[in-house]
Parts: sequence; structure tokens; C-alpha cells
Amino acid sequence: MKWRPEYATGLASIDEQHKTLFASTDSFREALNAGEGAGVYDLFLQFLSAYAEAHFGLEDECMHIRKCPVAARNKVEHAAFLTLLDREAIRYRSAGFSPETAGALLDKVEGWLTSHICRIDIQLRDHAPG
Ligand SMILES: [Fe+2]
Ligand SMILES: [Fe+2]
Repeated sequence: MKWRPEYATGLASIDEQHKTLFASTDSFREALNAGEGAGVYDLFLQFLSAYAEAHFGLEDECMHIRKCPVAARNKVEHAAFLTLLDREAIRYRSAGFSPETAGALLDKVEGWLTSHICRIDIQLRDHAPG
């Protein structure tokens, strides 16, 4: 999935992190399509969860400082996303790897990122700090 100009939040650090989130799903999609998903799924889930958590922390702070009206909504959606990843990690640890489930998770993650960024994160650009 490509990052697009309409995803811009006006904050370079946030945009760079969004690009990294897209890039990590792209590289996992490539591994999955190449039949190499099993070997990297655990790492992918761990990376995504840790990276998303760090990104959400910074973004929540930016919205708080800028008094963004969607700041609370942003936090709630972030928590739901981390829960989705946690649930999949738990399922994976007990049931093991399945390309179908991994593909479905990837679709969910990409859909979530696009929808969330376009509805919530881009509202950062209308709220200058102060
Ligand atoms: Fe967000
Ligand atoms: Fe974000």
C-alpha cells in the first residue's frame, strides 16, 4: 500500500511514521505472497505492535497539545487497534501460522490504517499548536 498526499497530517514526524507502518505491511505482504510468511509473522506482529504503540503515544501527545477535537476518539481507536493485534498474537501462539489468517489480518491492518488516518489523523493539519 502506498502512502498518498491526502494522508498528510502536516507533521513530518507523524507522516514518516505512517509511511513506515505502510512499508512494514508491504514487506510482510511480499513475504506472505512468496510463501515465506510463517518465518516472519511473529516478528511482523511484534514490530507492528511496538511501532504502532510508540507512534500512537507521539500522536496522542500532538493532538493533546493542539487541542484537537478528535483527540479522545483517536485514543479510543488506537487502543482498539492494539487490542486487535494482541488478540491475533494470542491466537497465533496457540493455533500457529496460517496464510489465510495472516492475509486477513493484513487486510484488516491496511484497511484500519487508511480509514483511521483519513478520518482522524489528518485533522491534525487543521489545528496549529498553541
Ligand atoms: Fe491516530
Ligand atoms: Fe497515526
